[in-house]
Amino acid sequence: MPPLLFVLVLLFLTPASTLDFRYHSNQEMEQYLLQVNASNPDIAHLYSIGQSVLGRELWVLALGVRPRSHTVGIPEFKYVANMHGNEVLGRELMLQLVDDLVRGYRNNETWSLQILNSSRVHVLPTMNPDGFNVADTHCQFSQGRLNHNNIDLNRNFPDAFAGLRKQQQLNEDKREAEVRAVMGWLRTETFVLSANLHGGALVASYPYDNGGSELVGGASVSPDDDVFIHLAKVYSHNHASMHRGDVCHDSRPFLDGITNGYQWYPLSGGMQDYNYVWAQCLELTLEVSCCKFPPAAQLPALWTDNRKSLLAFMKQVHLGVKGRVFDGSGVPVQNAVVEVKGRRNLCPFRTDRHGEYYRLLLPGNYSFTVTYPGHEVLTATLDVPYGPDQFSAMKHDFLLRRIATTTDQTPTNATPTCNHTLQQVGGAAAAPTWSGSAVGLSLVAVLRSLID
Ligand SMILES: *[C@@H]1O[C@H](CO)[C@@H](O)[C@H](O)[C@H]1NC(C)=O
Ligand SMILES: *[C@@H]1O[C@H](CO)[C@@H](O)[C@H](O)[C@H]1NC(C)=O
Ligand SMILES: *[C@@H]1O[C@H](CO)[C@@H](O)[C@H](O)[C@H]1NC(C)=O
Ligand SMILES: *[C@@H]1O[C@H](CO)[C@@H](O)[C@H](O)[C@H]1NC(C)=O
Ligand SMILES: *[C@@H]1O[C@H](CO)[C@@H](O)[C@H](O)[C@H]1NC(C)=O
Repeated sequence: MPPLLFVLVLLFLTPASTLDFRYHSNQEMEQYLLQVNASNPDIAHLYSIGQSVLGRELWVLALGVRPRSHTVGIPEFKYVANMHGNEVLGRELMLQLVDDLVRGYRNNETWSLQILNSSRVHVLPTMNPDGFNVADTHCQFSQGRLNHNNIDLNRNFPDAFAGLRKQQQLNEDKREAEVRAVMGWLRTETFVLSANLHGGALVASYPYDNGGSELVGGASVSPDDDVFIHLAKVYSHNHASMHRGDVCHDSRPFLDGITNGYQWYPLSGGMQDYNYVWAQCLELTLEVSCCKFPPAAQLPALWTDNRKSLLAFMKQVHLGVKGRVFDGSGVPVQNAVVEVKGRRNLCPFRTDRHGEYYRLLLPGNYSFTVTYPGHEVLTATLDVPYGPDQFSAMKHDFLLRRIATTTDQTPTNATPTCNHTLQQVGGAAAAPTWSGSAVGLSLVAVLRSLID
């Protein structure tokens, strides 16, 4: 048989064809996800979190050995791509990632078995299918960035720094359909770690995107800054070139290929701050290509550049400590506040409906405080190892002791609530001031808003 014919015959005999490297339309993407779901019922679960403005389903594929529901002790991870409709590499990276994980699992490859055995991975390949449908293939132009109502979805989330009154005025049902869908999604599951994939630069950006009172050298520093810097470096250093920090000609150099979001350019209503502040999910914004719509011929190389970093980042869901909080009768309790000394999160982290908490921390000794009504405040110091290599965070349960009921009727330990008393300091939604630097800052913000 001539060699070429032999290759052709082999191709036709190969049962499950691998995903091809090209841009898939919304319909093709849907078909692909439906097919993966149908042929892998043991590890895949396809669900919709809602519809876009034009009624397209926002499909999420969950992968894991128990894909249909949460399992106590198994952290929930997510990737979101294409929230800007014309930033398209992330869509295809997500499909390749799904293909790779499923194929690896079917072939008994340890790396895939370990990920799907130890975590549940949710993938939303497009958050803005309407924008994608009208996207320009230009590298920088922004046709297709916005949703069908011409709203930038990465500016439409509630913002902790933009003032509480403004948030209340803009209540949830006035927000864009795609943003409402994600907000509802975050209520159905307690996600631990997440990234949203963008294009137009090559950098891993981390919270805060907007300004609080903790500006340090131009950065808006969150209480978990050390963890965020580590997470961003895991992505940039496992990437073929992101860590060099100077790959895109039209972009500023980024030391280590990472940046504090605010320090790059302040923005209000972003998704990563929302995830972190209100959903206790640590999220990064990954800018994965200099060109927003790279030529299809570059897709195999771009997948190779990102594959290792996408997998390494997922493993970071096992940083720190996880466990449950039990009340005086040994029942796991929801809404117990689990705080780490020195980390004053705007909304303190709370246990979920399974009584679980997950706290991403770098190795070290940490003092924990657990607060729950009717119970004594519990403190403990934990020596936290590096979990990702073991595919599990350190496990630690907290057993609370009930306060002996006396004549004292007042709640002795009111649980802390979200702290939104922070004053806006020159953030993207600040009242306009006309000092030279503020004008410069907002001008930069406008220019940069065309880039991410
Ligand atoms: C996914 O596959 C399962 C099992 O075959 C099926 O019951 C379910 O309806 C599928 N989901 C979708 C959205 O098609
Ligand atoms: C993977 O392992 C399972 C259980 O050990 C076995 O039944 C199956 O045939 C293996 N599959 C491959 C492709 O090696
Ligand atoms: C999967 O998890 C089970 C129990 O959680 C463990 O016994 C098994 O070794 C794990 N398998 C892999 C491949 O990690
Ligand atoms: C944490 O504390 C223990 C006991 O005091 C000590 O042995 C250990 O080295 C500490 N770990 C770190 C990372 O500082
Ligand atoms: C809320 O933040 C402000 C400003 O940082 C601080 O002064 C105040 O103590 C905080 N309140 C709580 C309950 O953490």
